[in-house]
Amino acid sequence: MNEVISTILNHRSIRHFEDKPLSDDQIKTIVSCAQAASTSSFIQAYSIIGIKDRLKKKKLAELVGNQPYVENNGHFFIFCADLNRHHLIGIQEQKDVKASIESTEKFMVALIDAALAAQNAAIAAESLGLGICYIGGIRNNLEEVKKLLKTPERVIPLFGMTVGYPAKINDKKLRLPFEHIYHEEEYQQNNEIYMQQLKEYDDVISQYYEERTGGKRKDRWTEQMANMLEKQTRMYMKEFIQNNKMDIK
Ligand SMILES: Cc1cc2nc3c(=O)[nH]c(=O)nc-3n(C[C@H](O)[C@H](O)[C@H](O)COP(=O)(O)O)c2cc1C
Repeated sequence: MNEVISTILNHRSIRHFEDKPLSDDQIKTIVSCAQAASTSSFIQAYSIIGIKDRLKKKKLAELVGNQPYVENNGHFFIFCADLNRHHLIGIQEQKDVKASIESTEKFMVALIDAALAAQNAAIAAESLGLGICYIGGIRNNLEEVKKLLKTPERVIPLFGMTVGYPAKINDKKLRLPFEHIYHEEEYQQNNEIYMQQLKEYDDVISQYYEERTGGKRKDRWTEQMANMLEKQTRMYMKEFIQNNKMDIK
């Protein structure tokens, strides 16, 4: 196994960091790796906002639902879908790009671009011996986050990423069985076999939590998913996105 593959397979989210900031060189390397990701039609429809300021991180840690590692880390990155620069390009080139940059398709393109860039950043950071944790919690309170980051229309903060020197490393979380995720030639699903396989995976995950929490938690994966999906969260999202002039048509 080569080093890239072993870095990828060794991933686990890190939520405790040493009090040691990333160097500007490290930040530059991580962002350059993000930028090296493929990008749909060369559109480069994302931006990354890095937060060093302690007070801003503290405020963000509250806004994301009191997650202390958003304050205590080596650096906090926020990945945004960004079609603002394409709006400006339209003005400069005197072309009517409005309908296109307000379409669901271009919103999806921007989301995909941002996610690909972020995962490149994550792997780059991990390859440097750093730990990362994505923070979707920034979508808990996007109006406040937008104000704090001064993001203009057509820029949607999607998720954050804490990066830093790991102070505590969790066990790896086992993923779904290969055959749940990978289908060959066509989508294949035998519900009976599938439900049996899910039960086996449930036992593995339940045991993982039991060991990790000293018996305090032993929920099954399906139980965890059903409980999570039963709650309607961030239902304001479509309105927020449309108010910011994306995904209107
Ligand atoms: C887009 C995204 C948002 C996430 N948001 C949060 C978050 O707000 N807080 C957190 O502690 N973990 C967050 N995570 C981390 C996931 O909980 C974690 O990746 C998952 O449980 C699998 O665990 P692992 O990364 O350790 O393998 C997020 C992950 C992704 C991809």
